[in-house]
Amino acid sequence: MVIDRSYYFMKAGLNLARALFVTNQTEKKQQAELGYWQLQKAKSGELSADHYEYFYTTHFDIDKEEYRGKRILDIGCGPRGSLDWATMTKRRVGLDPLAEEYQRAGLIRDSGMEYVDSGAEEIPFSDDFFDVVVSFNSLDHVDDLEKTISEITRVTASGGLFLLITDVNHDPTVTEPVSYEWDVVDRFTPQFELHWKDCREKSEDGIYASARDGEPYDFSNDEARYGVLSAKFVRVPDE
Ligand SMILES: C[S@@+](CC[C@H](N)C(=O)[O-])C[C@H]1O[C@@H](n2cnc3c(N)ncnc32)[C@H](O)[C@@H]1O
Repeated sequence: MVIDRSYYFMKAGLNLARALFVTNQTEKKQQAELGYWQLQKAKSGELSADHYEYFYTTHFDIDKEEYRGKRILDIGCGPRGSLDWATMTKRRVGLDPLAEEYQRAGLIRDSGMEYVDSGAEEIPFSDDFFDVVVSFNSLDHVDDLEKTISEITRVTASGGLFLLITDVNHDPTVTEPVSYEWDVVDRFTPQFELHWKDCREKSEDGIYASARDGEPYDFSNDEARYGVLSAKFVRVPDE
């Protein structure tokens, strides 16, 4: 069935309006997230996933072949098909508390990646299950940062990678209730070793364009503003 863009405009309008009126914060956040993606789909027709491969590989200096036979987990994957490119992996799992809503809303297209409907605070996989865990533009969207970090640590295999791209330095918002600064990287040590980090100014072009092409963050300017952090960690074996 072909769904016309006006359908997504209408659904986005309804969900964004609902987000204004519901009082439960989790429900408010979910309506706003859903409305946001419906609006993107209404505007662009198809949600593109073309940019993800660059961020999983070149951005973090990882060869695509390194993913062969590995298990990858994308935390807060959204509906775009972030792991569509990763056909050489053993498992490619996207975790999102809205995965089923995104499916129901027709936002997820059929691809080889698995979607799991869950928050990052309780990841339904066993200890050390994943070789690579990723959080791109999702860490500040979770409800409980401490539980999320503890779960990321638990499911990442010893020697495995954790890749992070996140906004920093913002006040809590409806969809980004968690706020932190550049030193959020310290929350991942000593259970992870920080191998690389990069700090950029956030431009109007959004988080991904800023992470890739943004100006280096000017730490001498103390004006309050968003920054974009990229960080690559390696899981240290438990003692
Ligand atoms: C801005 S979107 C980013 C989607 C995708 N990572 C990307 O960059 O295109 C943030 C995602 O985080 C998800 N999210 C919200 N709360 C979450 C939680 N507690 N655990 C995991 N993901 C969550 C939202 O449902 C949403 O899909």
